[in-house]
Amino acid sequence: MRKIAVINQKGGVGKTTTTANLGAAMARAGKRVLLIDFDPQGHLTLHYGAEVAPDQPSVYDVLTASIPIADVALSVRENVTLVPADVDLAGVETELVSVTGREVLLREALDLFEGSYDVMLIDCPPSLGILTINALVAAEEVLIPLQAHFFGLQGLSKLLETVTLVRQRINPNLTVTGIALCMHESATRLAGEVVEDLQNFLESSRGTSNAWANARICKTSIRRNIKLAESCSFGQTVFDYAPKSNGAVDYTRLATEILEDIIITPVSSPTAPTRDATEAKARPKTKTDAVEVPSVAQASHARKASRATEALREPKVASAVEAAGTADTPESARSDAAAASA
Ligand SMILES: Nc1ncnc2c1ncn2[C@@H]1O[C@H](COP(=O)(O)OP(=O)(O)O)[C@@H](O)[C@H]1O
Ligand SMILES: [Mg+2]
Repeated sequence: MRKIAVINQKGGVGKTTTTANLGAAMARAGKRVLLIDFDPQGHLTLHYGAEVAPDQPSVYDVLTASIPIADVALSVRENVTLVPADVDLAGVETELVSVTGREVLLREALDLFEGSYDVMLIDCPPSLGILTINALVAAEEVLIPLQAHFFGLQGLSKLLETVTLVRQRINPNLTVTGIALCMHESATRLAGEVVEDLQNFLESSRGTSNAWANARICKTSIRRNIKLAESCSFGQTVFDYAPKSNGAVDYTRLATEILEDIIITPVSSPTAPTRDATEAKARPKTKTDAVEVPSVAQASHARKASRATEALREPKVASAVEAAGTADTPESARSDAAAASA
């Protein structure tokens, strides 16, 4: 079974949307998928139209009262089983403070779980607390949804630091499989710069013993698409709600890519183009492409210290900046308005 923790301690980057729809896409490809809602906001649970009734056990009870996962798990779609969460889960951060072995509770519960699955996806909360640690201990892979905007890379150092600690101390099998660009606006200059910084950072880690030495930026980026945002409010995946939308297309491609393991196959050239770069070349040049693509390249080469490197060197600065917010730029919001309604 592939065991993938979907992690980014920033909120609103696409973790839940990715877990819900990537899981649904994998299930449609015939895989038996186990989804674990590990966020007290319970958004993944709501995304599947499920809820935890007052007397119904949830993943909270799995962690705090050793209730077997089988007693909690819900069959929510064909090939999809969900371990639901609700706000009670917020309590574990304090309730488990003095519990010995609190980092391994999820892994132990999963070890006792009889179900047979091809893929497990864990939707993590927007923090690096005990829940996220449990997810990193139970998983073997990390998938990082990320928005390629100015604040997108801030906090990444802290996240990778946490992955490193868990790998060193508890889970030597843990690796970062990939970074999935979510709500992506590949035509904007800022997104291009951020992706290039990220690519350079990852390339500089090849051949090291880092957990992210083989990590890739997923070739499939998830475009901003209003159907993805709308579907969750109806308790539906994008495949239930708008199966022909860009959102459905993108998550189907991402599922194929991850299932085929493309993103953990080393590339021979350190400058191998991403799908975005390839597409940008293949497309007839729009005015935006003609102006922005070359200038992105020039700007990126001109920068001595990349944003990624800075973010990764200075976790404290990064967290401070992160606290300032994650608002999207008005420019990107405008440029994408048309594409997003597809
Ligand atoms: N590709 C996308 N296009 C448009 N809206 C999106 C997209 N991905 C996520 N969203 C919306 O952005 C918001 C935050 O996404 P979510 O997956 O909940 O992030 P997280 O779990 O990281 O907090 C949600 O309202 C979601 O519906
Ligand atoms: Mg979420």
